[in-house]
Amino acid sequence: MGQFLDSVPVSAIVRIRDMMYTVKDPFRLDQGDVSFDAPDTFKQGVARAMAENRTHYLPSNGIPPLRKAFAEKMRKKNGIPIGSDDEVIVTNGGTHALFAVFQAILEPGDEVIIPDPEWPPTMAIVKQAGGVPVQVPLREDLGWRWEIADVEKALTPKTRVLYLNSPNNPTGGVLTRADLEALARIARDRNLLVVSDEAYEDVVFKGEHVSIASLPGMYDRAIPCYTMSKSYAITGVRVGYFAIQNAALRDRAAKVVLYSTTNVSSIAQYGAVAAMEGSQQCIDDFKTELRFRRDMFFKGLQDAAPGVFSGNPPDGAFYAFVKIDPEFAKQAGITGGSRAEASAMAGDSLSWAMAEFLIKHARIGCVPGVDFGPRSEGYLRFCTCRSREELTGALASMKETLAHVHAR
Ligand SMILES: Cc1ncc(COP(=O)(O)O)c(C=O)c1O
Repeated sequence: MGQFLDSVPVSAIVRIRDMMYTVKDPFRLDQGDVSFDAPDTFKQGVARAMAENRTHYLPSNGIPPLRKAFAEKMRKKNGIPIGSDDEVIVTNGGTHALFAVFQAILEPGDEVIIPDPEWPPTMAIVKQAGGVPVQVPLREDLGWRWEIADVEKALTPKTRVLYLNSPNNPTGGVLTRADLEALARIARDRNLLVVSDEAYEDVVFKGEHVSIASLPGMYDRAIPCYTMSKSYAITGVRVGYFAIQNAALRDRAAKVVLYSTTNVSSIAQYGAVAAMEGSQQCIDDFKTELRFRRDMFFKGLQDAAPGVFSGNPPDGAFYAFVKIDPEFAKQAGITGGSRAEASAMAGDSLSWAMAEFLIKHARIGCVPGVDFGPRSEGYLRFCTCRSREELTGALASMKETLAHVHAR
């Protein structure tokens, strides 16, 4: 297992993050870290927990009031028929939820259908659990959704899991209810499990967020995974959760959580209870502001880099996943690009070349498309959840830098 980890890639997002620490006055449009402050309910909950000396060991699946709050939320907001609060397990953020779930459900060689592009940690987590990620393209012309026939074509006797991520990181594509019904039929017909990563459930600008676990008869095979990171602006605090109806799988996942954390931080959990029980206004407020920033960024991009990038504002999440004009890059001499470890492809990478160019010359963090999947070479991801000031600064810096390129 030790040696095997050498073959598990490090996400480009992490590589870029490390590069950004060497940049003076950077514009951090690389990480999906919302610039908002956490709600007061959360902060007060943390302060109270400290004052009450809640600093000791806890049940490893999570404290009862938090499991109850998450179960209630999944029942009411997501429409998932959670039976008992015991079906809910609290994790160290959404990444840890996915890690525990995939460790619990995969056998070596099991294939997992994953969108292309997709947030790179998913592929790494699947590999780390002995699984084989099989990426199926999202179609830009369908608003970055799957053509369901493409998913069917990718199924083999080894397929064990459909991994859904709607809204999707990096494209913001949102699966429709009809898509989910079709995928649910496939899962039932082929006896597949579904891991439903709903990290961006609260950031949907067009259409609705539907959990596949809420569709009739699906919760016995669909495992919904959530995080508080984005919705409550607590990415560094680390609180996530998932629900599994199947008791045998749940016991396995619980062991992964037990032996990887003992328990999620007591202070974080008590703060999370307060955030879940208090006003949920921040979720709407964040969404309104995120919509503004999305539109501001896309408009600004046209002015800062006319003709250099193309793509439409996404239906969900908070990223701009845009296509680089290869002609522009060629003329500007933006070529080469040191490929990420995450990419299995050899040769030069336009998306890496462009990312390195923007980091070095414009101080703008961004992530090369190729690291989200081989078909996304030639794209870049910018995070639009940063503050208005930071987005404005990045756009101004991009405009100035590209003006020099045009003048060359
Ligand atoms: C698609 C997706 N799933 C899960 C997560 C997990 O987030 P965290 O571990 O910060 O809670 C992220 C974070 O960026 C994500 O983009």
